[in-house]
Parts: sequence; structure tokens; C-alpha cells
Amino acid sequence: MLIFESPEDLGKACARQIVDLILENQKENKPTVLGLATGNTPIPVYRELKQLVQKEKIDLSQVITFNLDEYLGLPIDDPNSYHSFMFEQLFSDLLQTSNLDPRNIHIPNGYAKTERDLSSQELEALFIAFPNRIKNSPLSQEEELWILKQRADQYEHDISRLGPIDLQILGIGTNGHIGFAEPGFSFSQDTSLVQLTENTRRDNACVFNGEVPRFAITMGIGTILKAKKIYLLATGEKKREIIEKALQFPISPSIPATSLRMHPCVSFFLDEAICPRTP
Ligand code: GLP
Repeated sequence: MLIFESPEDLGKACARQIVDLILENQKENKPTVLGLATGNTPIPVYRELKQLVQKEKIDLSQVITFNLDEYLGLPIDDPNSYHSFMFEQLFSDLLQTSNLDPRNIHIPNGYAKTERDLSSQELEALFIAFPNRIKNSPLSQEEELWILKQRADQYEHDISRLGPIDLQILGIGTNGHIGFAEPGFSFSQDTSLVQLTENTRRDNACVFNGEVPRFAITMGIGTILKAKKIYLLATGEKKREIIEKALQFPISPSIPATSLRMHPCVSFFLDEAICPRTP
């Protein structure tokens, strides 16, 4: 457990670790696979990471990223999508200032309403699975769900193919969710479609312009636990209670973050608002 005076200090330390990992892997000519999170908590990490990359001219050509999750039903360019969040907070800048390859950025896509929203492989698969489908018609709910499930499987497959994830960054929801793996999510489950709890929708409403979607696609606990190293970040008093539970309550799907205690290499990055230092 690492405790920092402020979220900014936490961000600096975490970004330093990420850069050092990239440099270490580079020496052995190995790629670095990063698992990335959204939410307010990692923003200071991304801010510092952008600065370090620019200042130290870090080579990102071998860096591959996988984001944890995305809402269902939002076009990727919707201002509330996690896709937009990641480009705003990190990727747009890195793509301008470094040699990060846009093909190495992976963010789940939760939007499949029309044929134009599908890749050519997805379209082909759709017509095989639904031979009576009328070309160019909007996707029925059944077809949309089918495509989204295929995407979840494909995402898991891509992580296995390009992974394992060297370092997974996580935030935590006030109900203990990680990614969007909500309470009750089985520990062995991989990337899946999930229904968001009312607690999560309420928590996320403050940064959301409009109604928070009811469903999401998320890496599973099974996916997350396959990462070589995990950093869970939490800052602010609002997270104190759930961090105590994550660290002390019995390991159980009712608090998804307790699953992290089964992982051999996990660090909790906390600030003093959560864990005051004793003088
Ligand atoms: C969302 C994300 C999580 C994130 C959580 C906490 O629910 N899906 O990955 O950890 O929010 O967000 P924040 O850091 O803003 O508290």
C-alpha cells in the first residue's frame, strides 16, 4: 500500500512507474501492454504521463493499450463515451507528441445500431448468423446484442493475443466495482456485457450530460486478474469506506475489488484523505 499526500503526488508516482516499465521492456526489446482506466482518479496520472513522455522523449512505438470498459449505446464520438474521455485526457496529446501507434489503442466499442457501425468482418458474420436479415435495415435488438457479445469475445481474444497485460491501472466504484464489473460479477468471468447498478449510474451521473446508460461492456475480473501487475488507485474521502472493505472484508463477488487480494502483484495507491498518516 502506497500513501501519497495528494492526488497529484499519486499521479506523479504512478506515471513514473509506467514510464520506467516501458523503458525496462524497451531494453529487452519487448512491447509494453498497459491496461487503462477511466474516471476522475487516473486523470493526474495521465497528465503527468503526457509530460514525462514529452520531456524524456519516450518511445511509445511498442506500447499497446487496452481500456477496461465502455458504455453500451453511445457512439464512440459521443462526448460522454469513455472513448472520448481517453482521447481528451491522454491519447490525442500522445498521438501528437509521441510515436504511439493509433492501431495499438484498444477501447471496447459499445455502439452497433446500423450496418455502418460494424466492421466488415462483423457485417459478414451478422449475415451468416441472421441469413434472413434485410440489407441496410437498422439492427434489431437481437442482432445488436449478438454483435456486442461477439465484440466482448473478440476483445478478450485480442488481450490474450497481444497480452498479457503488463500493468493494469484500476479505479474503484463506491460499491467496489472495478472496470464495470459490478457486485455479483463472477471472478472467473472474462470480458462481458453487464447491467449497471443504480448506485453506479447515480455516481457517474455527476460527470454525465444526459441519462447514464444502463448497460456496459467491461473486462471481467478474470481478465483483470490475468494482468502481471495491478495498481488500484483511489483518492478522496468518498472512497475511504470502500477501500477499507476491499482490504478487509472477506473475498467475495459482492465486493468485486476484494478479488484483487488473490493477485500476487497488486499495489494500492491511496492518498491521505483515505489513509491519514499517523504522526
Ligand atoms: C467508472 C469506471 C471505473 C472507475 C469508476 C470510478 O464506473 N467504469 O473504471 O474506476 O468510475 O471513477 P472515479 O475515479 O471518477 O471515482
